[in-house]
Amino acid sequence: MKKRILITGANGLLGQKLVHLLTQQPTIELIATARGDNRLPFSEGYVYRSMDITDRQQVLDVITETRPDVVIHGAAMTDVDKCETQKDACWAQNVHAVEYIVEACSTIDAFLVHVSTDFIFDGAAGPYDETAEANPISFYGWSKQAGESVVRHSAIRWAIARTVLVYGIAHDMSRSNIILWVKKSLEDGKNIKVVTDQWRSPTLAEDLAMGCYLIADQEAEGIFNISGKEVLTPYEMAIRTADYFSLDKSLIAQADASTFTQVARRPPRTGFVLDKARTVLGYDPHSFEEGIAVLASQLNG
Ligand SMILES: NC(=O)c1ccc[n+]([C@@H]2O[C@H](COP(=O)([O-])OP(=O)(O)OC[C@H]3O[C@@H](n4cnc5c(N)ncnc54)[C@H](OP(=O)(O)O)[C@@H]3O)[C@@H](O)[C@H]2O)c1
Repeated sequence: MKKRILITGANGLLGQKLVHLLTQQPTIELIATARGDNRLPFSEGYVYRSMDITDRQQVLDVITETRPDVVIHGAAMTDVDKCETQKDACWAQNVHAVEYIVEACSTIDAFLVHVSTDFIFDGAAGPYDETAEANPISFYGWSKQAGESVVRHSAIRWAIARTVLVYGIAHDMSRSNIILWVKKSLEDGKNIKVVTDQWRSPTLAEDLAMGCYLIADQEAEGIFNISGKEVLTPYEMAIRTADYFSLDKSLIAQADASTFTQVARRPPRTGFVLDKARTVLGYDPHSFEEGIAVLASQLNG
């Protein structure tokens, strides 16, 4: 029998990669949801339902009518600085929405894969494993921790997929990423400053989608770190990008995070230990170089 999976935030970076991956699985029936009209570039292979996750009744109606076996909840307010200045909107999207999703899953006994972030940590002691203690230092981080807490304290069957600095190319998406930004800047002969005192395990969006799919397919319960496998500074990511595209590295200068003024604080050292996801799920992400190659082939194709 086919497994029915409903995803939230289908227009987002993760959402688009999930639609692509799940529509290729013969054993999966996909229900893609997002707010407003369907903005995806193709409409075959899945059912689309409009669903604003902050509208409790809509969430309950769509999920109880479509009756998925698994819900992958990727929708969220993801702009870290906006979350700091628009706290009510952030809480509605990242916490109350999770309450509605959990309520709906509980009604039809669906398994929930909830997507979360390294920003629940203070960044004092990364890389983190799944048992590390959360201590957010931004409102976004706090809201995502509260969302996790809703899931963890529920009576439904659940998994939390935590991820880090997701990069990829998606349809109709204005948000850039470090690889495209470095490539474009160096091609234009621009000098750039890149920080050396932050550490992340950058995650190819396709790998995050695969991690969520593996969890959904196995209905594997608990918390899973789903990120890239190397812990790098943005400066190292920039140098590797320049190397890959044979661009002029002398245009890249080192900088401290304190050089840049940002509204919300960022955790200095995160990054994830992936042992559990590798062992339990068989998760095997690309290296950063391989991730650049995936983006390069998408740019060419
Ligand atoms: N990107 C990262 O670096 C990163 C790092 C760690 C964790 N994460 C987590 O990974 C997940 C996916 O992130 P992403 O990179 O795919 O983010 P994204 O590209 O910003 O996508 C988020 C999606 O959520 C949707 N959304 C927001 N509010 C909604 C609402 N009220 N109703 C329905 N949909 C709504 C947005 O819809 P619109 O398109 O209509 O705005 C958007 O398409 C999130 O849970 C995020 O917290 C991301």
